[in-house]
Amino acid sequence: MSVDTPRRTFAIISHPDAGKTTLTEKLLLLGGSIRSAGTVKGKKSGKYATSDWMEIEKQRGISVTSSVMQLLYKDVQINILDTPGHQDFSEDTYRTLTAVDTAVMVIDSVKGIEAQTLKLFKVCRMRGIPILTFINKLDREGKEPLDLLSEIEETLEMETYPMNWPVGMGKRLKGIYSLSDDTIEKYNDLHEREITPLADDKSLADYERETLEEETLLLEEAGNEFSIEKVRNGALTPVFFGSALANFGVQSFLDQFVKLAAPPQPRKASGEFIDPERQAFSGFIFKIQANMNPNHRDRIAFLRVCSGKFDRGMEVILSRTGKKMKLNQSHSFFASDRETVDTAMPGDIVGIYDSGNFQVGDTIVGGGELLQYEEMPQFPPEKFAKITAKNALKHKQYHKGIEQLVQEGTIQLYKTPYFEDYIIGAVGELQFQVFEYRMKNEYKVDIEFNHMTHELARWVTKGTVSDDMTDSRKMLVNDQQGRSVLLFENDFALRWFTDKHPDVELSSGWDIL
Ligand code: G4P
Repeated sequence: MSVDTPRRTFAIISHPDAGKTTLTEKLLLLGGSIRSAGTVKGKKSGKYATSDWMEIEKQRGISVTSSVMQLLYKDVQINILDTPGHQDFSEDTYRTLTAVDTAVMVIDSVKGIEAQTLKLFKVCRMRGIPILTFINKLDREGKEPLDLLSEIEETLEMETYPMNWPVGMGKRLKGIYSLSDDTIEKYNDLHEREITPLADDKSLADYERETLEEETLLLEEAGNEFSIEKVRNGALTPVFFGSALANFGVQSFLDQFVKLAAPPQPRKASGEFIDPERQAFSGFIFKIQANMNPNHRDRIAFLRVCSGKFDRGMEVILSRTGKKMKLNQSHSFFASDRETVDTAMPGDIVGIYDSGNFQVGDTIVGGGELLQYEEMPQFPPEKFAKITAKNALKHKQYHKGIEQLVQEGTIQLYKTPYFEDYIIGAVGELQFQVFEYRMKNEYKVDIEFNHMTHELARWVTKGTVSDDMTDSRKMLVNDQQGRSVLLFENDFALRWFTDKHPDVELSSGWDIL
């Protein structure tokens, strides 16, 4: 793709089953990046079974080739970053959001906002990422559109602005009305796109027309004003209705997406904002995928280009160490293949073969100043396990491995006071599996896991917590910075604690990690 083509880089935030994969596929089809549906989902089609990535990846069907996808639409290069969900939900899912300029929130019209959407939304909010909303599954009997808008406004404290409005839903679905140009996109069983001016439309019954008029009048009078500034700073979300499965409203969404999504944004590094227009190349590593091939220890580091131009084979400097290196092996990712990339521009994601030089959050520059992009945030873990080495004689490798993998961001480490037992924390179960696998394969240490029932971590921000305030349902540990953290089994244990100790203030970590 040409260096002059504008870039738009986004990720989908959604709860499993809301339709992320289906929508992604339809978008790729529109951009001509894939020719048939069912190509993206390795999990079900088994398309990626031949990939030579680590065993877990094979079993799960997670593939680097679906980590980043590209499509060209209306002369805009769109980079889609995958946000793994289900049992693959991990810190990487969150970290991916640090590398995008826009998020698309997919909501199931039947279920409304669900837990995982909310978690991912919080990361977008923290980073001020603009959000476009696609309310999916309009072909099913879902919640009332007005109720869905209120749910977004109330739960997420974000203004909404509907870009189109449904006429009916489920079996009664007739179409979506475009508020900007007074046209209706009709829903038909053939899934063919048909748009007519509302005035010319003869298919709506009187009551359907009346309901539409009433609802759009209400939106005009009581709804929010559109403001691109508010969209860009995440205060207002444009809302689109449609059905990914029926390919209904998807193209209309994409037409608007290329206009509304944010271009590559300036990013903070070493105390200043680095403009994408800046000539010198710079970027940061937001994810490292390890052990592509068990015979080699290589891994792929995912680099987000932030400024300047990336050229394959160019000499770069790793800011953290000052080490110079040549990036000869670099790849871009398409839906079905990995391709060698020769150049990449701000907004693009490049995969770089790494023999262990990089850490998540590293900045690399093409010369000039040694910038350091803002530190990668840590995210509150929800799964915990006490660990020991099965063979106590291997304690050297055990400590070395843990130190390395913690540094790489594979897992988070906590220690109990006094005995300094090791407790590892993760956002998702997959991280434990990756940790176990890598400890065994790279450090030759078998790990004994003692899975804990605790699910909530709370940092003590005020007051002191002593051992006598804890029990099996709430446990006191220290994080790597030596901060006190309480692990709770559930909300009930947390509430019980806060009621009993009003002087102790706790934070869920979203704001302090
Ligand atoms: P995810 O990636 O967010 O987890 O969701 P995915 O696209 O896999 O969709 C989850 C299920 O919802 C799939 O059905 C999919 O076909 C269905 N779906 C997606 N979009 C729509 C829509 O607009 N309308 C309706 N009615 N269904 C939709 P499944 O039976 O679980 O899987 P599959 O066997 O069809 O792949």
